Amino acid sequence: MAAPWMKTIEACGLDAEALRALVQDEMAQASVLRLRGVTPPGEPLPFWRSVGEVLGPSCDVVEDSVTGQPKVVPGAWMDVRFEPDRPDTYRHHKVGQPLHSDGAYSPADYADQIALFYLERQARTGGESLFVDAATVAERARAQDPALHAALTTLPVQFGKVGAGRTTPILSTRNGRLKINWNYFRVLPGQGEAVDRLREAFRRFLEDMIEDGAVTCFRLEARDVVFFRDDEVLHGRRDFQAEQSGERLLWKTYFLPPAQTAAHRSRTAAAA
Ligand SMILES: [Fe+2]
Repeated sequence: MAAPWMKTIEACGLDAEALRALVQDEMAQASVLRLRGVTPPGEPLPFWRSVGEVLGPSCDVVEDSVTGQPKVVPGAWMDVRFEPDRPDTYRHHKVGQPLHSDGAYSPADYADQIALFYLERQARTGGESLFVDAATVAERARAQDPALHAALTTLPVQFGKVGAGRTTPILSTRNGRLKINWNYFRVLPGQGEAVDRLREAFRRFLEDMIEDGAVTCFRLEARDVVFFRDDEVLHGRRDFQAEQSGERLLWKTYFLPPAQTAAHRSRTAAAA
């Protein structure tokens, strides 16, 4: 039987060393690992970064909250913080966020990045996390809509900016693992009718998956963490209720597995 793509583990009582071993073991197979019940001995963000670095060095590139441009901030975490005056971006808004990959339009040498979420504060209601793995998407498409499945696996789609970003079929296989790359809003225009059709058809397909309960949905609680392979799952969130700044507060950071580290170092050196 295939290993599960997502695991949830009650990890209370484990120290940093035990957590590092656990994360390394579990993420060798799983695409998503949720850990509950850990009480870090000090500040939670540096603690979890040091645990996560068992997977590879931390990535110090974060997206500027105002400009949306990447910038290098050593040791940084990015805040996904509700802000009542920022309905211009999913990062700071309370509306649901459709399924996507964080790195869909980043350069190919970031393709293997592993994300870490740490939830500091959950909204009063709502804010559930949504995750689905590439295999579940592929199987459903193959069964329900073979033409869509064919387009997902064969049609190259360009995400990002002209001259930069990533061009790939939405579903692909790399190093023997099924990968998925998707962000509806980052599909570049002007790629022809076939890409336009695929873009709209896949958006509807994913919405139907959520509606039909075919996507894993769970509600993080304060101090929960989730590690996930950004190129093997799509993630999103349901809408939530909040009025005050920071009423819901999620932190995220990334780790680059060793094969990607050299390219990352030269890139951050150039950006710094
Ligand atoms: Fe995201």
